[in-house]
Amino acid sequence: MVHLLGISGSLRKASLNTALLNAAVAGAGDGVTLTAAGIAGIPLYDGDLEAADGVPAAVAALKEKIVAADGVILFTPEYNNSIPGAFKNTIDWLSRPSSDIGRVFGGKPFALAGASPGNFGTLLSQNAWLTVLHTLGARVWSGKRLMVSRAHTLFDGEGRLTDAATAERLDAFVAGFADFAAKG
Ligand code: FNR
Repeated sequence: MVHLLGISGSLRKASLNTALLNAAVAGAGDGVTLTAAGIAGIPLYDGDLEAADGVPAAVAALKEKIVAADGVILFTPEYNNSIPGAFKNTIDWLSRPSSDIGRVFGGKPFALAGASPGNFGTLLSQNAWLTVLHTLGARVWSGKRLMVSRAHTLFDGEGRLTDAATAERLDAFVAGFADFAAKG
């Protein structure tokens, strides 16, 4: 059994990225578990806060979920052709203290996926993530990319994925990444 963690980088209730993550959880095939996580409750990174209180509980909990997973998929929105601040802030917290980076990120399989209403499906945000994940020593999967464009047309009012072609691409993406993560 391969255990994957998916993290949605949007705080919105009606987030397309969270909806995509939920569809991936539902479609995960035999031999794969995909657990959904989010970034709610994580404060803005502040070195004074860290010095006074250490890493916040929500950050510590997410770190341990990453450590326990065989691989992690970031479901990233795109803002102004790059990574949304709230999601980058989360990863910045997760990289503290720096002595823990190797345990949390070192050699860990990571994959990138994203949904946007635009035509490029978070291409530039995903590109921006490559530098960050490289810096942290993660093992980024380059076997497939999942960029879901015009995403607002692919889900119903309850956030359910209604487009069969996208569901097929999503399931193949998760299966391909699970194979990669299983190889250690
Ligand atoms: C956006 N959006 C956006 N979309 C895109 O494809 N490229 C972009 O550069 C941007 N820039 C951008 C900036 C800001 C400040 C906002 C608020 C939005 C649109 C964005 O993709 C859309 O709001 C998605 O629905 C956000 O993802 P969630 O919250 O639905 O997961």
